[in-house]
Amino acid sequence: MSTDTQVSNRWSSRYAYVLAATGAAVGLGNIWKFPYIMGENGGGAFVLVYLLCILLIGIPVMMAEVIIGKRGRSTPANAIAHVAAESGRSTHWSLIGTIGVIAGFLILSFYAVIAGWAAAYVFFSGSGEFSAAAANPVTNADVIGALFTELITSVSQLMVWSTLTLIAAIYVISKGVKKGLETAITYLMPALLVLLVGIMLYSAVVGDFAAAFDFMFHVDFSQLTIEGALVALGHAFFTLSLAMGIMMTYGAYLPKGVSIVKTSITIAIADTIVALIAGLAIYPIVFANGLEPSAGPGLLFQSIPLAFGSMPFGDFVGTLFFIMIVFAAFTSVIALLESPTAYLVERQKMSRTKAAVVAGVGIWLLSLCSIYSFAGADWTKLSFGMGGDIFEFLDYLTANILLPLGGIFISIFAGWVMKPNILQEELNLTGTPFAIILILLRFVAPIGILLVFANAVGLL
Ligand code: PFF
Ligand code: NA
Repeated sequence: MSTDTQVSNRWSSRYAYVLAATGAAVGLGNIWKFPYIMGENGGGAFVLVYLLCILLIGIPVMMAEVIIGKRGRSTPANAIAHVAAESGRSTHWSLIGTIGVIAGFLILSFYAVIAGWAAAYVFFSGSGEFSAAAANPVTNADVIGALFTELITSVSQLMVWSTLTLIAAIYVISKGVKKGLETAITYLMPALLVLLVGIMLYSAVVGDFAAAFDFMFHVDFSQLTIEGALVALGHAFFTLSLAMGIMMTYGAYLPKGVSIVKTSITIAIADTIVALIAGLAIYPIVFANGLEPSAGPGLLFQSIPLAFGSMPFGDFVGTLFFIMIVFAAFTSVIALLESPTAYLVERQKMSRTKAAVVAGVGIWLLSLCSIYSFAGADWTKLSFGMGGDIFEFLDYLTANILLPLGGIFISIFAGWVMKPNILQEELNLTGTPFAIILILLRFVAPIGILLVFANAVGLL
């Protein structure tokens, strides 16, 4: 097949693929974003809707993306066009790939900034700021809150960190030095999980674990708005790296004989576990210290350092923790930069290095909008729609509009446009299991997304 030549390399094994895909999935979405949006949207009911979205929509859409990538053996837009052509349909469906590239580009512009917060915290922790704050348990939370405010209002500090992050990502993407990174991540991901569990246990001892558990798992639907349901849905896509062409790109390198069903489920479970543990590590501290669950994007950075402050070897453990977050974020940053880069290489015929630089510089420029938003600059305040600032707008536009929209198109494409026998062949399933996935892709995913989406934006 001619397109096969476009993607000549493959993952060396099933394990390498699962690891890379999990690396792209697990990131700031799990440890930074999930806990704070859960807090903003009332806890338990939000968690339940989120889990249902992962199970009924996220996992099938992930399978669909991987199948399209693998079948098309090319970058997203071309892979979709290839599969469409194979199914005798219009190649205009490749526009789905374009939505994904735009979403990835916009997301990276603020993701790199938050990765910068984590990088700054490596140094805060290393220099003993948290244990110093803990010396006075009464002002503890205020001191750590002030440290955070000082950081996010320092435009120059944030610019340094996000610039370094993007330069490093451009370097890795253009030179293709992913090997070393993959090796590092092989050790760091499990280490992050162990550390998170350790912090969760420590929080459980010094914090209010019962309140945290109740908050996360006691389902009270009166606490959930339709807007919150849309946030849960959008986050299911964000956290699994869906609707951004990433899983299609990864699927394109999939060796024959790897089970798309099993690997997708494994990746989703790993991602979900990390998010839930992050919640269980953060909330006991939040409740024990009288912090607000609805504190927003600063929640992780204002709560967890309180635990490190009082923990034996807390400065050291805290430093390790933030180093690992930086690594987890960095694997996601690289995956996010890959999609606009691949797009420019393919569509504009740029060299890989040039494409990575062009995409990286564009993202860097846009990242200034988020940096100034956090600093509270007047020009970032928006007067239209729900108000807020440019960061909130970019977050809303990507997670609540572009990703769900991409999800609708992907599920319709996989369920209705693509030949069912392609789906069946690639899933390697028959009977009831195949019927379930087909029903999820044909009906549950598109209708579910549409209902939540239309309701939340006021169309229904
Ligand atoms: N899934 C990542 C997270 O939860 O942090 C975010 C992300 C990474 C999205 C890479 C998309 C992507 F390509
Ligand atoms: Na994630």
